[in-house]
Amino acid sequence: MTYRDVTQPEVLSDFAGSWAAPLGGTALFAPALSGHDEQTLRLYAKGKQRQWDGAVRLDWSTPVNQDNPLGMPDSTVWIAGSPLWDRLPEQERAAVRRHTAAWTYSQLLNGEQLSLIGVAKMVQTVPDLDSKFYASTQVVDEARHTEVFGRYIDEKIGVRYGITPSLGALFENVLTESRWDFAALGVQILIENMGLASFAVQRELASEPLAIALNSYVMEDEARHVAFGRILLRRYYKDLTAAELAEREEFALEGCWALRDRFVGEEMWRNLDYGAEECIKLARSSAALREYRRRLFMRIVPACRDVGLLGPVMQKGLAKMGVLGFGKLGDGLPDSDRTDDEDLQPERTARQEIASAISDGRTSGCVAGADVP
Ligand SMILES: [Fe+2]
Ligand SMILES: [Fe+2]
Repeated sequence: MTYRDVTQPEVLSDFAGSWAAPLGGTALFAPALSGHDEQTLRLYAKGKQRQWDGAVRLDWSTPVNQDNPLGMPDSTVWIAGSPLWDRLPEQERAAVRRHTAAWTYSQLLNGEQLSLIGVAKMVQTVPDLDSKFYASTQVVDEARHTEVFGRYIDEKIGVRYGITPSLGALFENVLTESRWDFAALGVQILIENMGLASFAVQRELASEPLAIALNSYVMEDEARHVAFGRILLRRYYKDLTAAELAEREEFALEGCWALRDRFVGEEMWRNLDYGAEECIKLARSSAALREYRRRLFMRIVPACRDVGLLGPVMQKGLAKMGVLGFGKLGDGLPDSDRTDDEDLQPERTARQEIASAISDGRTSGCVAGADVP
């Protein structure tokens, strides 16, 4: 096992640092303090009150084993259990575990920075002031998430990958689109739920205390972000025409396909060079990816239904993906997806989960001060 902090992280893949997209849209000045939405203002209050400092809250001195940085079981390695995996010497398997952690966390990091950019656009383009208030707290949240994932990757894993092309393309669509709600749909419904699905897997299966704590705190914020997206879009989409809704459904579906099929670490497999095409094929049919998809769509599909985007176009597309059944989910949804409560249940649940994670010892010694507010 190798325990050390990294001083010079290795940056991999051609896409690193080279992503750019033109901004579309119109900056809107909202009429002063008119049209209050109480639900949004409550979220804004919580957004202000529940800020945390990753530099203080997390114990960055925690040693991390670079042979398996997140302490994940091999069942989460896409090629594990295959004849190719069986042929690999232990040293190479350790490299796969490390790069899987690096690629996965890099895409979470890249998603966080792209969310930061997308939400900053929403502050400018969303029409009402309450939503601008709330989105401004989310800007700080996403900056903090970018900071903590970046620090974890650079100090504890030591390998960073650039933006995977499907994620870059999804955000290019979000940012170039002139209609403000597309940013909300892309960031708050698609990317936030992708993040929640990944964080939930990490939090349940990782055994590295710093990663568990980091994911738990980030998830707490993301539950609030998903709630905001649902409140905002539900209100706006109820007045759109069938043709306008169909356009949104097309857009969301395109994002769903990108998250479903093209999130298998292509750059990583090409970099590791064990036969990239075979590895990508194994990844696509792996149990680990199936489980990620299940968790992803059990969040995205009910969220689309909730905001009014489960029309004919969406239903046809989701049926083709084999995930339309998740649209029937109601009470069985993860707590972090419930948004229609007065007290923001998702956040409370996330906090309870953090507290219990701390008390069962998984995060002992990791959360500085252990002061879960
Ligand atoms: Fe985030
Ligand atoms: Fe977020």
